[in-house]
Amino acid sequence: MPNGSGHSNKAPSALIFDSGVGAISIAREVRRQIPALTLHFGVDNGFYPYGTKSEEALRPRIVEQASAMMAATGADILVVGCNTASTLALPQLREVLPQPVVGVVPAIKPAAQETESGVIALIATEGTVNRRYTRELIEQFANGHRVINVPAPELVRLAEAKLRGERITATDLDPVLRRIFHTAGGDRVDTAVLACTHFPLLREELDRFAPRQIRWLDSGPAIARRVQWWLDELHLVLPERAEASQLLSSAADSDGQIALAFAEFSPAPRLPVS
Ligand code: DGL
Repeated sequence: MPNGSGHSNKAPSALIFDSGVGAISIAREVRRQIPALTLHFGVDNGFYPYGTKSEEALRPRIVEQASAMMAATGADILVVGCNTASTLALPQLREVLPQPVVGVVPAIKPAAQETESGVIALIATEGTVNRRYTRELIEQFANGHRVINVPAPELVRLAEAKLRGERITATDLDPVLRRIFHTAGGDRVDTAVLACTHFPLLREELDRFAPRQIRWLDSGPAIARRVQWWLDELHLVLPERAEASQLLSSAADSDGQIALAFAEFSPAPRLPVS
């Protein structure tokens, strides 16, 4: 069946790229909104974690890996399912790739619309918290509300552990919850932005162990809407059912942990791309 993309008759597909399991939080939302879209996963496990690495090291690496994975899967759309990568390398990715590139933007704008107390916590990797892109986003979209920056690199590791089947306890989350609630202005936080795609995977635990109820926002729903927008724009017609997913990693998945984490999408593992 022609699909409007002008090449072959393969089903339209998107590649979701991340350093690790963060792609899953985005994929769940894309699958929920667009069940018939074929999803592939690109995991740069050979350079994980991204959040603590320098911009100079990360930028070329992201461009090289994401481009190689796009070529290997023949995907129609690249979804950068990683805030650390999106806040750093979107312009460069758009320069080299002929396909549309959808990036994750920290959900500052919706948070600014929803907060009643006027105090928002921005929880992200160190890289994202300190990025100029993020500072400009706050200046532009926080409506003058107070934004407390909460670097939480350990949540990346904890999300990976949870997807390997480990239980996450109150003690595990205590240091991060203290950084949100027991800091100047923390007693007034009513909305938290989960600005790393790993973090929505811990939403349930964050909610359960937080000292009081607040809103936890992420960008998954907005990303899925943007992917649908591109499918319409490219006139890509979806089949009745998504085709099999492929799982690419940049380093071998020797202990099978990546395949295990992505099992809910039953992807076919592929050889590392580099
Ligand atoms: N999932 C990534 C993000 O959204 C980063 C995790 C990492 O530090 O590798 O920022």
